[in-house]
Amino acid sequence: MAPFLEKAKVKHKEEIFPGLYIFKLDSEIIASYSQPGQFVEADPGESFFLRRPFSIQEAEDGLEILVKVVGRGTAELVKNETEWNILGPLGRGFDFQNLNGALLIGGGVGVAPLKFLYKRMTRRQYFRQPHLGLDKAVEQASFWGDERTRIRFVIGAKTKSEIPIAETDYIRQKVIVSTDDGSEGFRGTVVDMLKAQSKLWEDNPKIYACGPAPMLKALYEFMLEKGLDGQFSLENRMACGMGVCQGCAIPMKNGYKLVCKDGPVFDFKDLDERTWMI
Ligand SMILES: Cc1cc2nc3c(=O)[nH]c(=O)nc-3n(C[C@H](O)[C@H](O)[C@H](O)COP(=O)(O)OP(=O)(O)OC[C@H]3O[C@@H](n4cnc5c(N)ncnc54)[C@H](O)[C@@H]3O)c2cc1C
Ligand code: FES
Repeated sequence: MAPFLEKAKVKHKEEIFPGLYIFKLDSEIIASYSQPGQFVEADPGESFFLRRPFSIQEAEDGLEILVKVVGRGTAELVKNETEWNILGPLGRGFDFQNLNGALLIGGGVGVAPLKFLYKRMTRRQYFRQPHLGLDKAVEQASFWGDERTRIRFVIGAKTKSEIPIAETDYIRQKVIVSTDDGSEGFRGTVVDMLKAQSKLWEDNPKIYACGPAPMLKALYEFMLEKGLDGQFSLENRMACGMGVCQGCAIPMKNGYKLVCKDGPVFDFKDLDERTWMI
């Protein structure tokens, strides 16, 4: 399906910690076709040649995007409080059919696509058990008694004030947190936590991960050692975002793949050591 171009009004902007913003955009078309793991490309303005890619964090009431200011493009985008020019949905999202337990692992802004995935997974539970009500279904999602449908969401941040989910967001109460300095949850990285708490993965959940490359590399090595499987959402510098310029190619087991078109979500079995060398 070809992506759509949309001018989406800004409905809400919130700075959840210095330099990290949640934007809610009034998108109808892109939001209605978006799947967890897909992304949009946003135009920072006239003085920019290239759009900037952002994961879709939520698509139920418009589009929600998490933006960390790292350079000129993101600095310009977060100033725009009126209307964003966006292209999407782009890329290949997560496969979450036939779930037999899921462990979602996000680091930093990598939490964004997983939040969307978590909501879709738990909503599916709601449709299976509608007597619970949607809020209850999400509330219970980390603790499903049914062994076949367990869903857990682990996030890592440097420190408590940098957890990329707003304190007011009810999902924040459901996630298992690790912080590098121990200011909330487990002290250490998410991979340190997996090493310390084998109950998170010993019954072989499918792992869904997104985060900075060093985190994903450490997780990749851990999963290889423990024989775990799953999917990773990867990042690379992008230009066209649609598979034309070849600018986002990344080495994989069977040659180069385009992060924007073949990904950003890739199966664990397609990754290898070279993937982390970019
Ligand atoms: C599929 C995908 C999903 C993304 N989702 C999000 C998201 O949900 N929230 C979010 O805040 N950011 C996300 N990003 C990263 C975001 O696109 C970049 O931070 C942004 O394009 C930087 O633009 P800039 O002009 O501000 O920075 P630039 O001036 O272009 O770069 C500033 C610094 O950031 C580094 N950088 C820029 N882009 C990337 C990248 N793609 N990967 C690694 N390093 C980069 C540069 O090397 C440089 O050091 C995503 C990227 C991809 C590819
Ligand atoms: S960004 Fe152009 S091919 Fe991926």
